[in-house]
Amino acid sequence: MSEEEIIQSSEAQIAVHWKEEEYIYPSAQFIAQANMTEPHVYERFSLECFPECFKEYADMLTWYQYWHTTLDTSDAPCWKWFVGGRINVCFNCVDRHLPRNKNKAAILYVPEPEDEPHVALTYQELYVRVNEFAALLKEFAEIKAGDRITIHMPMVPELPITMLACARLGAIHSVVFGGFSGKACGERIADSGSRVLVTMDGYYRNGKLLEHKEKADTALEVAQEKGQAVDKVLVWSRYRGKYVSKAPMVKDRDYLVGDLLKDYVGKRVDPVSVPAEAPLFLMYTSGTTGSPKGCQHSTGGYLAYVTGTSKYVQDIHPEDVYWCMADIGWITGHSYIVYGPLALAATSVMYEGVPTYPDVGRPWRIAEQLDVNIFHTAPTTIRMLRKAGPDEPQKYNYHFKHMTTVGEPIEPEVWQWYYQAVGKGEAVIVDTWWQTETGGFLCSTMPAIEPMKAGSAGPGVPGVHPVIYDEDGNEVEAGSAKAGNICIRNPWPGAFQTIWGDRERYVSTYYAKYCKNKGSKDWRDWPYFTGDGAVQSQDGYFRILGRVDDVINVAGHRLGTKELESASLTVQEVAEAAVVPLADELKGRIPDMYVSLKPGYEAGQEIEGKVVKAIETIIGKMARPKHVYVVPDMPKTRSGKIMRRVLAAISNTMDIGDVTTLANPEIVEEIRKMVQGEGVVATKEGSEDLKHFGEEG
Ligand code: WTA
Repeated sequence: MSEEEIIQSSEAQIAVHWKEEEYIYPSAQFIAQANMTEPHVYERFSLECFPECFKEYADMLTWYQYWHTTLDTSDAPCWKWFVGGRINVCFNCVDRHLPRNKNKAAILYVPEPEDEPHVALTYQELYVRVNEFAALLKEFAEIKAGDRITIHMPMVPELPITMLACARLGAIHSVVFGGFSGKACGERIADSGSRVLVTMDGYYRNGKLLEHKEKADTALEVAQEKGQAVDKVLVWSRYRGKYVSKAPMVKDRDYLVGDLLKDYVGKRVDPVSVPAEAPLFLMYTSGTTGSPKGCQHSTGGYLAYVTGTSKYVQDIHPEDVYWCMADIGWITGHSYIVYGPLALAATSVMYEGVPTYPDVGRPWRIAEQLDVNIFHTAPTTIRMLRKAGPDEPQKYNYHFKHMTTVGEPIEPEVWQWYYQAVGKGEAVIVDTWWQTETGGFLCSTMPAIEPMKAGSAGPGVPGVHPVIYDEDGNEVEAGSAKAGNICIRNPWPGAFQTIWGDRERYVSTYYAKYCKNKGSKDWRDWPYFTGDGAVQSQDGYFRILGRVDDVINVAGHRLGTKELESASLTVQEVAEAAVVPLADELKGRIPDMYVSLKPGYEAGQEIEGKVVKAIETIIGKMARPKHVYVVPDMPKTRSGKIMRRVLAAISNTMDIGDVTTLANPEIVEEIRKMVQGEGVVATKEGSEDLKHFGEEG
């Protein structure tokens, strides 16, 4: 194969060999209490019953006005669900629980410092606090339905309070993960057109009280440069009545929420009834090209979907204590810490800090103290806890009935530890595969219906019909051991509506590839392209192999290669930058950065430091590369394309393959020696995403 042909090849042609894992069955005890135990749920949610099947989820909600059309496809592929319906998300997550559950904990908050007391917010207290803050937003900040508000906050109860207050007013929130830099926040403020930023003074992470407010100052500058003026910055305080940040409060722009709230004590705001298809929030995520895109999620469809899947897949009952360790700044936190669980009147645990602080027993102490019985986390965290404290869980007296893994493929050995050590062999596991764009789960076993299989996400959840296509759009058969692009045949209510302000990019990124007829209004012609590679075994279970595009999944955080490379290119000396994923025992993947310099500059530690710093300030610390290699030149095709695949092979000590057709084949060995040292023979069998990284487009 020539180099150009290799570029064209993709996941779709790869045969994958792995050992089939044994089935593990849920216990009778779990099944006896589960919310969904009927195998014929799949018939109810079959394609023949589509889209009406999703009425079952919408009926879990309280509507001001019932809808007349379940799915409107007239603006394909921008799907509209439950059209004609009117609803308010805050009412569904808070107000409607008051008659029966007002005195029940909605949120159990665990601060990172172990000597600070836990905070239990009952549904009544949540109601009061959300109303007061909604009144402030409405009167002081003059927020109305449809306005966007950017929220840049850590894991504190004030974050869901702020989100719910926005939802109460019909305002669209855009939560930016607290670990993102001020610059990243500013870009998102500008893209969303927010004129209000809600932030916080500081928070705890790994034993340190971190400065956070200063990021708002950078964010506002960046937003201003991009033409978006923010007139109010509302600053929550980590400690009531105190301001722990060193950043000055700017007069007539920055306001301490604690001070303002004094005027809103006891205030109530009626929930605003909005159309089902009104946007509820934006969540920015990385893609292959350009800037992060704002995934626009709906109100009625989204809430119905996360409520239905929280009930059936997460198996949440009102009496459960449910702990999802994700950050609310990511989609998992939105759907499965805040909206799904609260719509079900569950008790949702929020933890401020890192799982290993002050020691690796912390998560299990929290589980014991709060008597958590449903636990939800990511493979990265599981790997870390396993490495640092494999025997810790057994020291604590907690019992999970259900556990979730999400965000990355999980290795069968890691899955086994999760099952045996963390779950004590008692808990079912669901491996839930989905994306920011999809609002809720796409693939997972139904925990009381199907057996688990380590390393496989399972079949599509009820009502979601995945299919694997090869590059030419032919279906790849189950059991063929061939990988391909996993797509979804049909729309579902949790799917995002569009990319904020960029419908064209929405269509081209997610629907153009396998669209059967661009003029069609029939959903059957518009399979959804996920950007993940997968294989389906004979039993219909999908095993997800990772991204087929230039996205690196670092500890479950999605980073676009373009974002990382553009950040490196802001360093004055850097001429070219190429980033590749490096396999990491704990984080799954870490970026490895290769840069070449402009003429007249010399390689040195100083430059490496500058590149790292640029990435940290432009994106955030979690994007920090493992290495920065200053190379004399990049390996390139004759048409001048940087061969990231070759660099990925070098970083991961994998077979480099034939490079004789490159424009500069000699550079490959030079870079290899620089990275691996003399005499290393690459024999490692890399995983699929590493072998084929950078081949798309
Ligand atoms: C990956 C997180 C394997 C996948 C909810 C997807 C997974 C990307 C799984 C989305 C899983 C998510 N097994 N891979 N169970 N869950 N992924 O948008 O590559 O942060 O496309 O959403 O994470 O990441 P995102």
